[in-house]
Amino acid sequence: MSLANLTSDPNLALAMSIAKSTGELLLDRPSDLGIQTKSTATDVVTLMDQRAEAFIVGELTKHRPEDAILGEEGANKPGSSGMQWVIDPIDGTVNYLHKVPHWCVSIGLKDENSGQALAGVVYVPILDQMYISSRGLGAWVIEPSGTRKLQVSECNELSQALMGTGFGYASSRRASQARVLQQVLPKVADIRRLGSCAVDLCLVAEGVLDGYYERGVNAWDHAAGELIAREAGAVSSGLFGNQIGEDMIVVTTPAIHAELIAILETHNADKD
Ligand code: IPD
Ligand code: CA
Repeated sequence: MSLANLTSDPNLALAMSIAKSTGELLLDRPSDLGIQTKSTATDVVTLMDQRAEAFIVGELTKHRPEDAILGEEGANKPGSSGMQWVIDPIDGTVNYLHKVPHWCVSIGLKDENSGQALAGVVYVPILDQMYISSRGLGAWVIEPSGTRKLQVSECNELSQALMGTGFGYASSRRASQARVLQQVLPKVADIRRLGSCAVDLCLVAEGVLDGYYERGVNAWDHAAGELIAREAGAVSSGLFGNQIGEDMIVVTTPAIHAELIAILETHNADKD
């Protein structure tokens, strides 16, 4: 499978171009970020999240007027084509605010009838890294030093795994995530909380992290990154035979998936 196959997908090419322009918009930070809060006092949104989402929605509407759009900052446009764009203008808003480099623009495309992810782009502006995938065609990263096909790590022992995770914004949710973390941490090599679900998933695809799990992420957080990770060889599921969703997402190398799932199920990690 070659990169040319992938970039000849017009949907992917469109998402790549919009993600790159959105990244440029976001790198031009105003001195006043216009910070507001959403679900809790720690769930922040900046003027730039809103500007970036408006830009992406405008571009998608111009080029794909019949497609539906769902976005983190409120976009919810119905469509008639059976295709839905699922966008997170900044995944890792707290990192963006604090100038930690792990934040990205995430744009996924799914088939509304089957629910299947068709294409995904995760762009990390600070590092100029563009992670891309189209269903069935593999996953790649295009970065200043060149282009690489992505492949998950060969990690086959949970005790050797570097595991990503994340925490929600509600204090009660965090308390239960801490309870689960107490069970996982002694059984893995170490834990990373990098602050962006979409970037975490791309790092699993790249073999930097060996796995990632989190309770409470939304469709826009993982729409693109989960496809990228799966196309790079990761196994992805929820708990108790469920599909990935708000309750739980677990994405790891094939060999460690069942063992991690068993720990998470034993401790009811999909419940608060
Ligand atoms: C958050 C990030 C974070 C994850 C949270 C998400 P946001 O998205 O992906 O890593 O732990 O669950 O809500 O708020 O930065 O777009
Ligand atoms: Ca997000």
